[in-house]
Order: sequence, then structure tokens, then C-alpha cells
Amino acid sequence: MTQRTLVLLKPDAVRRGLAGEIISRIERKAGWQLAAVELRTFDRATLEQHYGEHVGKPFYEPLLTFMGEGPSIALIVEGENVIPGVRALAGATDPLEAGPGTIRGDYATITRENLIHASDSPESAEREIKIFFPAHA
Ligand code: CMP
Repeated sequence: MTQRTLVLLKPDAVRRGLAGEIISRIERKAGWQLAAVELRTFDRATLEQHYGEHVGKPFYEPLLTFMGEGPSIALIVEGENVIPGVRALAGATDPLEAGPGTIRGDYATITRENLIHASDSPESAEREIKIFFPAHA
């Protein structure tokens, strides 16, 4: 099924010079295309919208601080089964549980600074695309 998903390369990915490597892994998948790309430091209002479901959790404030501390890269990726596909490439949220060969398994060690966000369902993808790329909604 052709889908589109919202991907964020978080500030740790950009700061560590891993953006190219991560985009390259996504681009290599047959039939997946980049549909939009933007480098931007997210403001608090944008992050509050994106992470609304986590308000009140112990990791919420540190997460918003981290996500606003430097530029991230937002992307829309389109293609066959791209929603579960990018999540499989990313690996488990906790990098210590992410398998070798996944982005988090290969390059991350702590849960907050886990390099990449990818939408978890078609509904989340459309909601998140509206937040980061309103012109593509
Ligand atoms: P993401 O896929 O962007 O969605 C929520 C984010 O919150 C997650 O990736 C992590 O960056 C962060 N996160 C989730 N659980 C924890 C946790 N237990 N401790 C710290 N950060 C977390």
C-alpha cells in the first residue's frame, strides 16, 4: 500500500553528522521517495502539538528541551508500506532494545536521544504532516 509518513531526524542526529547516513538508509529502500525536507529548530508550540499525547509523563519536559536545542530535519517520505517500514528501520524506542542493523540499534544509547521519529499509523502521519508541513496536508 502506498503511504506517506512524517520523519524527524532529531537534534542529536544533525549534531552528530548522522543525517546523511539515516536519509541514505531510507532512500535505499526500493520505491521510497522523499516528498519534502526541511532543516529547522522547532519552537515550543510546534513540539507541544507534536508530543501532546505525552504531556504529564516524566520524560515530557526534558524531551521538549532536547528537541528544541538545535536544528532537526523534518521529512515526508512516500512509498510502499513506508509507515511500518521506517519504524522497522528505526528500531525500538529504547536503543538498548533496538536490534543491530537498525538506526537506533547501531547509533544510539539512550531513549530520549534516539535520533529519529517516525509516524506510527496513517492517522498519526496525517496529523504530524499538518504540524510540520501544512502546505502538504
Ligand atoms: P519518539 O518516537 O519521538 O516519541 C516520543 C519520544 O519520547 C521518543 O521518541 C523518545 O525520544 C522519548 N521517550 C519516550 N520514552 C522515553 C523515556 N522513557 N525516557 C526518555 N525519553 C523517552
